[in-house]
Amino acid sequence: MSDPVHFLNAFAQALGVMTLYPEGHPSRERAVDAAFSELNGIASRGAHPSFTFLDDEVVFGRERLRELKSWDWGKRLVAAGVQRLEFEREVTRDEFEGFLQEILGRLMLSSIDTSEARQMRSLGIRFGAVGLQGQEETGAAPAPLEMAALDVTLGEEAETFRWLQNEVQSRGSVPLLEAEAVVRSLSVAMHGDSRIVLPLLKLKEFDQYTTTHSLNVAVLSMGLAESLGCRPKEVRAIGVAGLLHDIGKIRIPLEVLTKPGKLSDEERAIINQHPLDGARVIMQSDEDVGMAATVAYEHHIMLNGGGYPALHYNRECTMASRLVHVCDVYDALSTTRPYREAWPSEKVLSYLEERTGTEFDPELVGAFIRTLRQGQARVRVLSDESATSS
Ligand SMILES: [Fe+2]
Ligand SMILES: [Fe+2]
Repeated sequence: MSDPVHFLNAFAQALGVMTLYPEGHPSRERAVDAAFSELNGIASRGAHPSFTFLDDEVVFGRERLRELKSWDWGKRLVAAGVQRLEFEREVTRDEFEGFLQEILGRLMLSSIDTSEARQMRSLGIRFGAVGLQGQEETGAAPAPLEMAALDVTLGEEAETFRWLQNEVQSRGSVPLLEAEAVVRSLSVAMHGDSRIVLPLLKLKEFDQYTTTHSLNVAVLSMGLAESLGCRPKEVRAIGVAGLLHDIGKIRIPLEVLTKPGKLSDEERAIINQHPLDGARVIMQSDEDVGMAATVAYEHHIMLNGGGYPALHYNRECTMASRLVHVCDVYDALSTTRPYREAWPSEKVLSYLEERTGTEFDPELVGAFIRTLRQGQARVRVLSDESATSS
């Protein structure tokens, strides 16, 4: 067994023991000590240890921990909103215990009994794929979740996405696991109070545009995909595609991206390059990213073949691309940009409607408008508080 696996096992053990014994109890102290010393063991190897939890997988740094393939705790942590665990610096024993306590609090809030396998199953049902629609066939309607953590500002997601953009800049490929973790976490925020809300970010500064816009397009795309009855896995794949659709913009100089006036031909050419750059950078990833790459390539192509990149022959773009295209334009027009004010939602919706059949897929626009109109009261605008730069 590798050290990170030792640590995670000791970490899970400590959480389990902590539910049984009060503070100060020798068993509890021992369990926390054991986990803490395992943590020091991996921390002493250099780099900051980081873990990403997916439903059925745990990743340490970039390495999948195969030994933990059927480790129950990954699921539990994801359900409690813990998708990523990163130790940025050395922590003290006290800090570590405080951290365990907080994780435990989150696990308790999502009413997980850490001792019962049976409870674990019912948890899987209650939260399903983090509560996405279509996971409730078991009959048991999900109880409203009382998770303080859901009242988020999406600051963490924005932070992770900013980090992801930097990674793309420096290594030229997309850290896909983190993109998936962001999507999962957005999905938790969307389903936080057992109905769908679309928690959209409000832009505070222009240079945050790409981050804010990407998160919003991911949320809108998942909302629309759900309303069309897509399965949770497809919904998440569309979420990742929405999140990454503009990733090709990272190479565009900020002055061009935020230029208030008319663009020169050269600047226009730079902008028009982002779908191709985005698809390229996504294809560098070693995961199955076909859909995200296609969406990045096609999201500015209109239904009638107009837009960019120019099509060599007139073909239909994929459903995911047509879907993200609608959400992309909706969010872009709803946001204040250096060259124009934000449009009110109704004006944007009429714009979409007017251009159905030429720019947009009529069915998708119809479904999008219904989703937003029905859910108007549910669209919460949250501010991206921790954001300081893009
Ligand atoms: Fe774009
Ligand atoms: Fe966009």
